[in-house]
Amino acid sequence: MRVRQYAGVAGTGKSRTVDPSSVAKAFDVHARTYDKLVGANPGYHEHLRLSAKRMGIAPRPGLRLLDLGCGTGASTAALLDAVPGAQVTAVDASAEMLGQARRKNWPPGVRFVHSRMEDLDRAGVQGPFDGILAAYLVRNLRDRDAGLAKMLELLAPGAPLAVHEYSVRDSVRSRLTWNLVCGMVIIPMGKLRTGSGDIYRYLRRSVVEFDGVSAFSDRMGRAGFEDIRVQTMDGWQTHVVHTFLGRRPTPAADDPLLDPAVAEVETPPEGLAQLDRTV
Ligand SMILES: C[S@@+](CC[C@H](N)C(=O)[O-])C[C@H]1O[C@@H](n2cnc3c(N)ncnc32)[C@H](O)[C@@H]1O
Repeated sequence: MRVRQYAGVAGTGKSRTVDPSSVAKAFDVHARTYDKLVGANPGYHEHLRLSAKRMGIAPRPGLRLLDLGCGTGASTAALLDAVPGAQVTAVDASAEMLGQARRKNWPPGVRFVHSRMEDLDRAGVQGPFDGILAAYLVRNLRDRDAGLAKMLELLAPGAPLAVHEYSVRDSVRSRLTWNLVCGMVIIPMGKLRTGSGDIYRYLRRSVVEFDGVSAFSDRMGRAGFEDIRVQTMDGWQTHVVHTFLGRRPTPAADDPLLDPAVAEVETPPEGLAQLDRTV
């Protein structure tokens, strides 16, 4: 089925403005050509696999992972490559993107859920998860802080989040690369393949406007994630695409790094400076 309508406006073939409120509908329109387009982007799948591996999850029976904004399943496949045998809940707001994902062959532990990230409770998606991958999703959220807070809530203590995302704001060179690749390749190629450049113009704009690396790392810290690290990719995506890693803090009593003798010491009213330094 070819969908040519979104944001309440019948498609006319002319360009429309995509924003976070209409982005899932816009993906509906482009779902059929999505895999071909990303397949032509060198490193696309390899970089997703790298982000999933960087989560550092050791496979074990019963492991539960969440793929937020799974689209046609490229990030779901990356999770399964990094953690074979895991149970994966893959969520997306676009029915057409999910339709493309469901057509592929998946092991029995994979389930697809049609829901906005903002409506996970209503969709019955419940934690705790042993890891969350959000690939090219967070930039599209209207309220990124609320999105990160929800991800933290869904994780088991100590479990990792990987946000795989474009971020170019902190570097002139990254912004130049991004604008060049969009202007010369992504927008013209998208328009040629789909007859419409709307979502690709949105992609360009949303990346330019998205947090820089340090701002997004700070945002993760404010949301309550710890052990925050950022790594980039190779190819033209160097310092353009990043894995932002963080984990849900472990309650102090369960923290294996904490010496129990220290954990049991109470802070005296005079403050920490009064503690015996030999403890
Ligand atoms: C660029 S695609 C990425 C798909 C996949 N993760 C990948 O790496 O190929 C972004 C996906 O996020 C979905 N999306 C956007 N906003 C969303 C939201 N608020 N809740 C759930 N999914 C959303 C879109 O429908 C789209 O399929």
